[in-house]
Amino acid sequence: MLSNLKEQPKDKILGLMALYREDPRPTKIDLGVGVYKNAEGVTPVMRAVKAAERKLVEEQTSKSYVGLAGDPAYSEAMCDLLLADSVDRARLAAVATPGGTGAVRQAFELVKMANPDARVFVSDPTWPNHVSILGYLGIPVVKYRYFDTETRAVDFEGMMEDLADVTSNDVVLLHGCCHNPTGANLNLTQWQSVIDLINDKGCLPMIDIAYQGFGDGLEEDAAATRLVASSVPQLLIAASCSKNFGIYRERTGLLIAIGEKAENTAVTQGNLNHLNRQNFSFPPDHGARVVTEILTDPALKADWMAELEEMRLGMLGLRQQLADELQKLSGSDRFGFIAQHRGMFSQIGTTPDKVEILRADHAIYMVSDSRLNIAGLNAHSVPVLAKAIIDAGI
Ligand code: LMR
Repeated sequence: MLSNLKEQPKDKILGLMALYREDPRPTKIDLGVGVYKNAEGVTPVMRAVKAAERKLVEEQTSKSYVGLAGDPAYSEAMCDLLLADSVDRARLAAVATPGGTGAVRQAFELVKMANPDARVFVSDPTWPNHVSILGYLGIPVVKYRYFDTETRAVDFEGMMEDLADVTSNDVVLLHGCCHNPTGANLNLTQWQSVIDLINDKGCLPMIDIAYQGFGDGLEEDAAATRLVASSVPQLLIAASCSKNFGIYRERTGLLIAIGEKAENTAVTQGNLNHLNRQNFSFPPDHGARVVTEILTDPALKADWMAELEEMRLGMLGLRQQLADELQKLSGSDRFGFIAQHRGMFSQIGTTPDKVEILRADHAIYMVSDSRLNIAGLNAHSVPVLAKAIIDAGI
C-alpha cells in the first residue's frame, strides 16, 4: 500500500533551510525561515524563558495530562495579551495547540465542520502553508490582491475590490500584524473599512497573529486584532508564541473562537476540544506553561517585554540601515519601503531568477518569492546584502 504514495510538493521555506545547511561557503547569509537571530547569528533562549523553565523544574510536581484545551490559565493569559478587554470573555472559547500552525489547522477544520461549503479568502501572497493546509483539507481558496509590486505597500483598493466577492458562507483570513511574507500592513483606518465590509457581508473573519511585538510594539501590534474583536459578531484567532517568546520547538499556539452569543460558547468549546482529541489529544504543555509563568509574574513579564523590545528595535535599526545602504548604492529611494515595512519580513519584489542569482553568486538565501528575514542580518551583513542586490540588477 505504501508504494502508492506520491512525492509531496516541497515546502519552499523548509527546502531552503536544508539548502542553506548544506552550503559549505563560510560567507553564507541565511535570510530564509522566520526565526529571530541576534547579531551573532544565534537564536537565543530569552532570559525570562530560562527563568520560567528553572522555576518549572524546581516547582512542577506532575506531568500528568492537563485537559484537551490545555491549561485554562494559559488561555486566559494569552487572551489578556492579545485581546485585553476588547471582547466579552463569555463569548470566547479557546484551545492550546501545537504552535501557530496547529491553531491555523484546527481553525480551518472548525470552519469545515461548521460549513462544508465555506471558501477561505487569503491575501495574495500569504504564508504558503495557509494555502497548503487549505488544499490538504479540500477547502476552496480565493486569493485577494494585497501587495502592490510597484510601491511594495498594501494594494488596498485591489484588496477591497476583491473582497467585494465575499459571501456570508466565506472566511476572510487576515494577518493581525507583521504580514508574512510582505511586511506591508494595513493602517487602522483601512482595518476599519475591512471590518465594515466583513459586517456588511456577514462572513467570518479569521486572524493569524504570529509576530505580536515584532512590529510597532506589543500593544500596537494587537490593536487591529482588538479592533476586529470588538466590532464583529464572530471571529477566529490563531496565535503563535514561537517568535515573540522564542520557543519555536516547544510548539506553543492558541486558537480562539469568539461567537455571537455567550450561550453558544460551551458548544464551540466542545467542538474545539473534540478537534484536539481527534488530532493529537492533549496539546503540548511545556511552552504554554512557560508563557503562563512569564505573563503572570510581573518581574518575568517586564524582563520578557524588555528583551522583546530590544529585538524589535534591533530589527527596525537593520531595516533603516539596509534602506539607507540601498539608497546610497542605487542613488534612488526605490528601496525606502524596507524601512516602512514591519515585522520580521520584507518582500523586496524581485523574480525567482534574481533570488537564485543571490544564492548562487553571493550565498545569500531568501525565499524564492523574494521574502527576506530582516533578523537574519547584522550590521556587517547589511552592506554585503545591499551590494549583492544592486550587483544582481534588482
Ligand atoms: C516562516 O514563515 O518562515 C515561519 O513561519 C516558519 C514556517 O513554519 O514556515
